[in-house]
Amino acid sequence: MPSMHPNEPERIKLAQLPTPIITLNNLSRQLNFERLLMKRDDLTGFEVSGNKVRKLEYIVADALANDADTLVTHGGFQSNHCRTTAAIGARVGLRVRLLLRCHDLNVPNDGNLFLDRVFGAKVSLHDPDQYEHSLQKIINSAMDAERAAGHTPYFFPVGASVPLGCWGYIRCMAELVEELGRDNCVDLFCATGSVGTQTGLIIGKTLLNCDKWRIVGVPITDSAKGREKAVRELLRRTIPKYQLEVDEAEVPIELLDGFIGEGYGIPYPEAIETIRLVAQTEGILLDPTYTSKAMTAMISVVKAGGIRKGAIPIFLHTGGAFGLMARRDLFQFHT
Ligand SMILES: Cc1ncc(COP(=O)(O)O)c(C=O)c1O
Repeated sequence: MPSMHPNEPERIKLAQLPTPIITLNNLSRQLNFERLLMKRDDLTGFEVSGNKVRKLEYIVADALANDADTLVTHGGFQSNHCRTTAAIGARVGLRVRLLLRCHDLNVPNDGNLFLDRVFGAKVSLHDPDQYEHSLQKIINSAMDAERAAGHTPYFFPVGASVPLGCWGYIRCMAELVEELGRDNCVDLFCATGSVGTQTGLIIGKTLLNCDKWRIVGVPITDSAKGREKAVRELLRRTIPKYQLEVDEAEVPIELLDGFIGEGYGIPYPEAIETIRLVAQTEGILLDPTYTSKAMTAMISVVKAGGIRKGAIPIFLHTGGAFGLMARRDLFQFHT
């Protein structure tokens, strides 16, 4: 696909694009619904998989243009973003330093944390209190230590949800429009955390005049109100930076509250049941933190008759299956 916009920044190709769109025939039948679709952004790659890859195509291009030799970022100890960064670092020949929030410094070496280490990233674990209250200090001291060791570090925050990272999903919107048609009525559901994915989709939808599309984010980290504020802030930082033809005040931001459960990273029975349902009807894995909750939300809208008449409902699968491996404890099997 050619340049998405004259002001689109440089990117390097890391993702397998376009990702496929499939029909969830068995799940649709089970829910008594005509046709549910899924955009398989979990298939942007294997090691380098999920939604973060699209954002990192721009971030890593910028790091290389700035002669960096080390990527520094942060997230939870099962962060998909951090694992993707670790794999990409290995692929493009950059060192990776990860600052991870972790409630138990002796946590089992499993899932994404295990893979971070396999990919050779330098990992440090920080208890949630220290991480919440002194994150900037932790980042500064990691950056200073890298410089003191003769390296050129390049920092980007959790989820790569900065204006540059938003381009990943501005561009994804162009892919979706090519596949589904700009003039169709589309109800798209996605998990919303650090908000770069939803913000990029909203900007892309506006740039491409997809007036009949709804982008419904399912908040995973805090309330709809909190995430709406975060999306607005990111819109306000991104639109002027790239002189995009988008009027921030006019842009609708749709978020669906009620599917976080007790909090970020805490699975609940209905979401675990959704993992089983999608695995056993479609052979597709969801993750315990993001996509299981977002899919639970979409299923509940479908069951309640909340998909617009004539609209195409589509779930954006943003990846994360490696996180499931670290939560085997959530499942009991009788055979
Ligand atoms: C699997 C998965 N889905 C969705 C998200 C949310 O995306 P964003 O942070 O861009 O809102 C994340 C990010 O943390 C993720 O790892």
